[in-house]
Amino acid sequence: MQGKAVYLNGEYLPLSEAKVSVLDRGFLFGDGVYEVIPAYFGHLFCLEAHLQRLNNSLNGIRLTVSLDTQQWLDIIQPLLVEGEAQYIYLQITRGVADTRDHAFPQQSKPTIFAMCSAIAPFAREQGVKAITLDDMRWELCSIKATTLLANILLRQQAVDKSCAEAILIKDGFATEGAASNVFAVIEGVLVTPPNSNEILPGITRDVIIDLAKSNKMSLREEAIAEVDLRKASEIWLTSSTREILPVITLDNERVGDGQVGPVWEKMQQLFQQYKRAVS
Ligand code: PDD
Repeated sequence: MQGKAVYLNGEYLPLSEAKVSVLDRGFLFGDGVYEVIPAYFGHLFCLEAHLQRLNNSLNGIRLTVSLDTQQWLDIIQPLLVEGEAQYIYLQITRGVADTRDHAFPQQSKPTIFAMCSAIAPFAREQGVKAITLDDMRWELCSIKATTLLANILLRQQAVDKSCAEAILIKDGFATEGAASNVFAVIEGVLVTPPNSNEILPGITRDVIIDLAKSNKMSLREEAIAEVDLRKASEIWLTSSTREILPVITLDNERVGDGQVGPVWEKMQQLFQQYKRAVS
């Protein structure tokens, strides 16, 4: 087989041959959900947690796909290639309908697509710049929906300002990044907003919370007021593809002393150890 294999509806095909109908509701409406599952040294990281979140997302959009963990694994595993850090992109849409109608079709077969890509190396220890923006997204942010136009527009505004991410503010409180969760070190305590419909329940976030607890670091799952975010000694952004990114400037102001902080250094070490231990 020439080119890279991807999975589409029961088949493994070269990327160039994987085609979806223009009547697919994913294409027409963004009517679908997805997962991004990292794999280190060929081992899928936190697979069960990603699949649990996928099921929650599917339930959230009232789409039934009755595959168990082993069946998902049978789809995903053959896509993994040699290499230190890869990720599986897995997308399920409501499938193809005969006509374009907002309401669900009477009958449709979900489209299931998966591919594997390399996670590009990232110089985290240098820190990144971020901006704050108004969180103008919808009220179902806990669903990992492919409908990402708001997130795209927000992230692009950050990129336009040579920043890595936009940290979103809703009613005076930080929710998350355009494609990441947020942590802050405030008066020595690691704080992250609690899970709610306003944020995606990040898997990286959960790993960090568990590592902080098992290493007796002080941590609170608590709303972060914008004023406190601006006074934080450290801010981090977390995701499956970026891991834990320290933010060194927020809206052109230094975070703490403008250097990567000691709590990040500690968590970065714990996270890398954990990755190696489970790989
Ligand atoms: N996004 N919040 C949002 C809005 C996200 O899009 C993501 C990840 C996260 C972090 O979740 P996790 O730790 O499970 O990756 C939080 C992925 C990487 C993406 O859309 O590509």
